[in-house]
Amino acid sequence: MTLQAKGFVDEMRMVSMRLHTREQAREGEKKEVKGPQDRSVSKWDPTIVGYLRFLVESKLVYDALECIVDKSDFPYYAELRNTGLERSEQLGRDLEWFKSQGYGIPGPSGPGVNYAFYLQQLSAKDLPAFICHFYNFYFAHTAGGRMIGKTVAEKLLNKKDLECYKWDGELKQILQNLRDKINKVTLGWTREEKNHCLEETERSFKYSGDILRFILS
Ligand code: HEM
Repeated sequence: MTLQAKGFVDEMRMVSMRLHTREQAREGEKKEVKGPQDRSVSKWDPTIVGYLRFLVESKLVYDALECIVDKSDFPYYAELRNTGLERSEQLGRDLEWFKSQGYGIPGPSGPGVNYAFYLQQLSAKDLPAFICHFYNFYFAHTAGGRMIGKTVAEKLLNKKDLECYKWDGELKQILQNLRDKINKVTLGWTREEKNHCLEETERSFKYSGDILRFILS
């Protein structure tokens, strides 16, 4: 019997799971619990204003990621277009919905702008590092992000289903398609390039964490 060679995405996932606490995810290994966002989402005490800030900042990051892969001349980036995971439009609709309910939409306050700027710079010069952020940001939203969305909807929004938690088609398949694409893009990478990509994971958690924290502010 031959063993199926695992793709690079499995390595990326392993590194990411090491940066989760046990409270966040069953497979999490991070010991240090630094703030409330490291605790189980069910124990979170979110606020609508904080959640709106989180959505506004997140949209800036999705705008950047989606603009980069749409506009870039690099053939690699073309592979990452139309994955079905794009969130910019959906977040725009959600923010409109909040507006229609009488909520004031906050302006950008830093972390999303910083992250978007960093991604723009990275995309032009460092594909392995960029792919790390691309993978982590989209997958985080479909895993922990969905848990957060559910908790906020239950606690604060009368179970309203926001657009950013709806995907066209079966999410499981959409995620698998992106894993396959990333495995394809990274197939020819050297070990150095792969390690460089994996080393960027911590920074990706740092940038996302700065945005996530808003929910609890
Ligand atoms: C996977 C929770 C933050 C990236 C997961 C899983 C859970 C989870 C439960 C396992 C999903 C599964 O395999 O079924 C959380 C919680 C977070 C959080 C509660 C914060 C409160 C983050 C952050 C990132 C991230 C900040 C990176 C920016 C990922 C990735 C996976 C994952 C890449 C693998 C997804 C997959 O293979 O489908 N997370 N997470 N997570 N998370 Fe997080």
